[in-house]
Amino acid sequence: MQTRRHFLKTLAAGGLTAFGGCLGNIPLLPKKSRLRLVFYTDIHAKVNGGVPHALELAAEAINVQNPDLVIAGGDLISGGFTNTAADMAPRWQTYLAMQQDMRAEVYPVIGNHDLVAVRPKDGSEPSPHPKAEFCSRLGLARSYYSFDALDYHFIILDSIELSDDELGYCGFIGEAQMAWLRNDLSQVADSAPIVLVSHIPLATDYFDVNSGTNTSPGPGKLVSNAAEILAAFNNKQLILVLQGHLHTYEELRSNQTRFITGGAICGNWWRGPLGTTEEGFCVLTLAGNEIGCRYHGYGW
Ligand SMILES: [Fe+2]
Repeated sequence: MQTRRHFLKTLAAGGLTAFGGCLGNIPLLPKKSRLRLVFYTDIHAKVNGGVPHALELAAEAINVQNPDLVIAGGDLISGGFTNTAADMAPRWQTYLAMQQDMRAEVYPVIGNHDLVAVRPKDGSEPSPHPKAEFCSRLGLARSYYSFDALDYHFIILDSIELSDDELGYCGFIGEAQMAWLRNDLSQVADSAPIVLVSHIPLATDYFDVNSGTNTSPGPGKLVSNAAEILAAFNNKQLILVLQGHLHTYEELRSNQTRFITGGAICGNWWRGPLGTTEEGFCVLTLAGNEIGCRYHGYGW
């Protein structure tokens, strides 16, 4: 945490306080408060198939972008849900080697694959705390949190709720996290631009585009109480929502908010690209309320 505090203080020292203009009722922040951000997601780390080498290439390509900070959007490892903590240890090590290779601070988000031993397929006892492994490996006190960088407020959600159905999880933000979110937002200035991050998407056109408008996305594909979450941002400046889970690169805009689904480091679960989305990550530039985003392959 000391490192993070130092980093954020350093970033804040480079910012200006004057406002440069107006876009509707949204104040524009000075260009000097530009923040360069890499968002990578859906790594699905495993130890075979050349994956450790792919992750070295990805970390190298991310370092070349020279980001101020990095967000890892979840599904850091593959298959935690149905395996034991002992089975998953080598996969965590593979993932953490990638994270340690990166020069910028990395802020992790929990994905469904990062829960460990929910339903172990070897018949062993399920874990009473399937998210504990993620938190301890990543050095987090809790699976959701927030932080500030320059004038931006970042909120990292835990979108994974356990369920009793066949899938075993759904996209949902429960009561305790909603209360935390409302309290967190009450301490954010109304004019401060906010970036929200969720592994399971809050909004997507992916299913409309790929399967037709009459197709249901199916269980676990979207956060089912997204409307309630977004309503909590009324009167706030939610400029950007970063999402994972679908392994596709997509951008949507709704009023002042951009929704970006960030492709996947593993592409189509390490079987090549998924459609036209190759194995890659997003490089974003935030300047006031303006967002630039490009998707980069890393040559896998
Ligand atoms: Fe995934």
